[in-house]
Order: sequence, then structure tokens, then C-alpha cells
Amino acid sequence: MRKVLITGATSGFGKLLVDAFLQNGDYVIATGRNIHSRKEIFEDERLKYKDHFQEIDLDVTNPDQVILAADSVFKKFGSLDILINNAGYGLFGALEDLEKEEIRYQMEVNFFGTVDVTCAFLPMLRKSRGKIFNFSSVFGFMGFPLTSLYCASKYAIEGLTESLRAELAPHGVQVCLIEPGGYRTNFGKNLSWSQKNPDSIYRLQMKNYRELHEKVSKKKPQEPNEVSKGLLKLSLKTKLPMRKVYGKDGLFSYILKNYIPERMYFFIMDNFLKIVLLRKAS
Ligand SMILES: NC(=O)c1ccc[n+]([C@@H]2O[C@H](COP(=O)([O-])OP(=O)(O)OC[C@H]3O[C@@H](n4cnc5c(N)ncnc54)[C@H](OP(=O)(O)O)[C@@H]3O)[C@@H](O)[C@H]2O)c1
Repeated sequence: MRKVLITGATSGFGKLLVDAFLQNGDYVIATGRNIHSRKEIFEDERLKYKDHFQEIDLDVTNPDQVILAADSVFKKFGSLDILINNAGYGLFGALEDLEKEEIRYQMEVNFFGTVDVTCAFLPMLRKSRGKIFNFSSVFGFMGFPLTSLYCASKYAIEGLTESLRAELAPHGVQVCLIEPGGYRTNFGKNLSWSQKNPDSIYRLQMKNYRELHEKVSKKKPQEPNEVSKGLLKLSLKTKLPMRKVYGKDGLFSYILKNYIPERMYFFIMDNFLKIVLLRKAS
């Protein structure tokens, strides 16, 4: 039975991944912030899969909890087959409008959280010649205005993961980037929009960006199951690809960014963004 640990399992992709791997017959270690006091989230799983399922409190920014989680998995199993670094959130806003603490916290959760959890579990992953899946995003290969810190955190994940690919290969551990487009999880609800300064010179851009975001969110949502089921399928492959892009919007963005000359890409994007973000109310 494969042992699978998922961070940020309390919502969205994380919760769907728990269910997908349990249904596949794997042993799932669901981790999340205060997971033990949020009993309702995994009520069904606890009943149905009691011998295959465990919950561990793990805020990825809490180094003590990271160590405790790794110790507890080591004592129980001695090894881990799959680590899914999924925990994350988005901080949106103009760089100048962001508070220093917000900036640092975005990197703490999305980047250093992944680094710390990976370091703690690597000895166990090496033992089983396991697999690591790191959640990036379309924003991990495409910079976007008013999203710079979220993009930076995901670009950092891309650099980390691409580098670890060859570093860990001789030790039998494979790594893979998961790059979803827009899916309706709780990501939108949990977004942190920084707009504390009412006189910000970015207020028109922010207003238009939020409107664009709301408009896109109202469109027929892509089914987040696509990502959880896709990742489960991927985990069963002998050899992992470097990256897997999900969603029509994801693929479109990937092609736009990677298959047309850079000057043309920026010409298209600059003009599109000028029209959309600098539009004045009529
Ligand atoms: N949905 C999309 O369109 C989309 C697109 C591209 C990439 N992604 C990425 O997909 C991943 C999952 O997001 P989602 O869409 O499933 O959003 P979500 O529904 O908001 O779930 C995010 C999960 O991360 C957890 N989390 C946040 N901070 C944490 C911390 N410090 N320690 C541990 N867990 C923490 C949340 O826990 P709480 O329940 O405690 O808040 C929640 O379980 C993220 O890395 C996100 O960047 C999402």
C-alpha cells in the first residue's frame, strides 16, 4: 500500500486529492491547519477508510509541526511514497501597496512551506524511491500585474522543482510540477487582496483587475476533480514528466508563453493588459 502525504488537505484540490487516493486504495495522511479541531471535514473518510487514513495538524509555516509530522510518519511507517505539496494561497495587489509582513507570509506559505516539508520528508522518500508533486500554477510560468508576489512564490517553486529533478534522480526520487489554470476551489474566497490605501495610484488597475477576476470567476468553472484525478493517474506512472498543465486556460497560456517568440508574446500581453487594466469607467 502506498503512503501518501498531502499538505493543505482541508479544502479545494487537497481535499479532492485525499478522496482520490483513498479510493485508489492508498494510505492517506491528510495534513492541514488545526485539522484535528475541524472534525467535520473528514467525517466520511474517517468512518469509511479508518485503516487507511490519518490526520496530522500541519501548518507548513510552523517548523515544530513540520518536525512532529515527519517524526510521526517515520515512527509509524519508516518511509513515504508520495508527498504532495499543495498548501498555498494567493496574495494579490500592487507591490507598492503590500505590507512587508504580507509579502513575507506569501513566500513563507507557498515557497518556504514547501521547502521545509520537502526537507523533512526527503529521507523517507529516498528510502521508498518516492515521488514529490509540487503545486505551481499558470502564474508559475507567466508573470501577471498585481499578482507579483503570488507569481514570485510560484516561480520559486518552479526553480526549486526543476533543480531537484536532476539532484534527486540518482537517489530514485522523482519530482513533478502541477500547473493548474483557474479552478473553482476555495482559492478565490481565500485570496488576500491588498488594497488598504484608498489613494493608491494603482486603484484603477486594481478595480479593473478585480472586475476581470469576478467576470472570469462567473464563467462556467473548470471541474477541480480534473486535477485530483489527473494527479492520481500521474502518480501511477513509472516515469513522471517535469510538469503537467491542467485546464484549457492553462494549456492556452502555456502555448502562448512557450511557443511564440518572446517579443510577440509581450506585444500581445502588454496591449491586452493596457486595454483591460487601464480602462476608465464610461
Ligand atoms: N484553484 C486554482 O485556480 C489554482 C490554480 C493554480 C494553482 N493553485 C494552487 O493549488 C493549491 C491548492 O489551492 P486550492 O485551489 O485548492 O485553494 P483552497 O481551496 O483555498 O485550498 C488551499 C489549501 O491550502 C491550505 N493552506 C493555506 N495556508 C496554509 C498553511 N500555512 N499551512 C497549511 N495549509 C495551508 C488551506 O488551509 P485552510 O483550510 O486552513 O485555509 C487549504 O487547505 C495552492 O498551492 C494554489 O496556489 C490553485
